[in-house]
Amino acid sequence: MVSEKKKKLLFNVFRFNQGSDYLPHYDKFEVEVGGADVVLDVLNKIKWEQDGSLSYRRSCRHGICGSCAVKVNGKATLACKVRVSELVDIFGEELTIEPQDKSRAIKDMVIDKSNFWEKYNSVQPYLVADIDEAPKKENLVKPEDAEKIDEADYCIQCGNCYYSCPAVEANPDYIGPAHLALAYRFNADVRDGAKKERLTDVNRLGSGIWDCVKCYECAVACPKELDPIGKITKLHQMTFAENLEENNVATRHAVGFKWSIVKHGILDEGELVKYSEGIPAVMKHIPEAIAMFKKGKIVMPWNMPKSKNLDEIKKLVEIASTAKFKGK
Ligand code: SF4
Ligand code: SF4
Ligand code: FES
Repeated sequence: MVSEKKKKLLFNVFRFNQGSDYLPHYDKFEVEVGGADVVLDVLNKIKWEQDGSLSYRRSCRHGICGSCAVKVNGKATLACKVRVSELVDIFGEELTIEPQDKSRAIKDMVIDKSNFWEKYNSVQPYLVADIDEAPKKENLVKPEDAEKIDEADYCIQCGNCYYSCPAVEANPDYIGPAHLALAYRFNADVRDGAKKERLTDVNRLGSGIWDCVKCYECAVACPKELDPIGKITKLHQMTFAENLEENNVATRHAVGFKWSIVKHGILDEGELVKYSEGIPAVMKHIPEAIAMFKKGKIVMPWNMPKSKNLDEIKKLVEIASTAKFKGK
């Protein structure tokens, strides 16, 4: 039950006008907030009652159009979906509202999302199928086949995952979680005929699925809970299943990880580095290796222990493997 009790809260709001400001600043606004009020209500109250110049995007107010995404105290937030009371529970009563990416601000919460949309087309975000334009009956998809899409079609392109992703921040070429989830959506569609082509597009080292650092920020940021990192992992599996994996440090890391678990039941960190990066890289990592050795995190190869449950672990790996690695 949502409390109807109203309370005055002070909000710090990011302000910047690309047309006139050299630097951004923050304005403080006191707003009366009810228990059911969402962040968009706060922005509306500021705009309608205190400062008509405040700019932000919104359209549907029902979590459908994806336009109202902002950050509150650094947390990716769909403004029309998240209650202020939930944020107060997490952060306390001092809330700061900012655009998704301050470096791309045009006016207040409105950002230039061109870097997000430019990548949209890079994954063929449409069904490629030879469809009869005047079919005599419906082209039905079985429920079990529809489930393979795993809710990836719920994406509203809000960009919350993209603008929370550290890999995108570090590498502007990385396609990012939203569009990789979209690539999965069409590759998982039984009617699609461009799976290999799409997989090849997202399989490039430097911009594709192997550049995800598995931090899970996108899963936390997604207002539709569609788990973009889970979809990226499924794309990894698809590349192995289709024999499209390339021999690079990322794929060797995946294969070496599995091989180590099958061999020892636990991870052999030293062997994993040697296998995925090669002997010259091992030399580069010697200072870290010595520090890890001193702390007992790695051991000499001949001292590598085996889990006493190794047989059971091997069976679990076999059951859990959706793709058969050609492996080591
Ligand atoms: S898990 Fe991967 S895609 Fe998701 S935010 Fe982290 S680096 Fe980005
Ligand atoms: S995957 Fe989720 S967070 Fe990312 S754009 Fe789609 S709906 Fe938004
Ligand atoms: S206004 Fe459409 S998703 Fe928030």
